[in-house]
Amino acid sequence: MANQELTFGNEEFIVSKTDLQGKITYGNALFIKMSGYSELELLNKPHNILRHEDMPAVVFKLLWSNIKAGKEIFAYVKNKTKNGDYYWVFAHVTPSFDANRSISNYHSVRRKPTDKALNTIKSLYSTLLQKERNGGINASEAMLNELLKEKGLSYDEFILSL
Ligand SMILES: Cc1cc2nc3c(=O)[nH]c(=O)nc-3n(C[C@H](O)[C@H](O)[C@H](O)COP(=O)(O)O)c2cc1C
Repeated sequence: MANQELTFGNEEFIVSKTDLQGKITYGNALFIKMSGYSELELLNKPHNILRHEDMPAVVFKLLWSNIKAGKEIFAYVKNKTKNGDYYWVFAHVTPSFDANRSISNYHSVRRKPTDKALNTIKSLYSTLLQKERNGGINASEAMLNELLKEKGLSYDEFILSL
């Protein structure tokens, strides 16, 4: 049956690498297993093959603006499997650099999120998604920035405080 939540162990890591366009160039065994796809089905495909419709676009906008600028980012992500199941991850996404300090590719390592963090994230994401449906990504971005301003936290500080 689809739309079931999958989980993985606290000690496990889901790892993938992409090229500069976000096409998958590597996935570890757990990445492949969780996705429900075969390795061949994943390699060279855009990473949004795992995108879940419950994810607000503003999270990916932030992700890409950070990594394209050469910075790392932490993000909570709900991913969709081949058969429509889903799993939550706490992702650390980083650029890799060549000898000239140009970005050569991207790398993501994902751990199992805590229930406490997910409680906050699920309600935040559903509010952001609602905003996006009504006012587009600019509306959800404004809302996220407003919330961070109220808390007096940067995005990183907020995410790492959960
Ligand atoms: C290294 C790396 C890992 C990524 N991992 C995921 C992921 O696990 N799930 C996901 O939905 N998007 C992931 N993305 C973001 C996707 O490239 C994409 O931006 C996102 O799925 C939203 O799709 P869209 O940009 O086509 O709207 C990752 C990107 C990079 C560079």
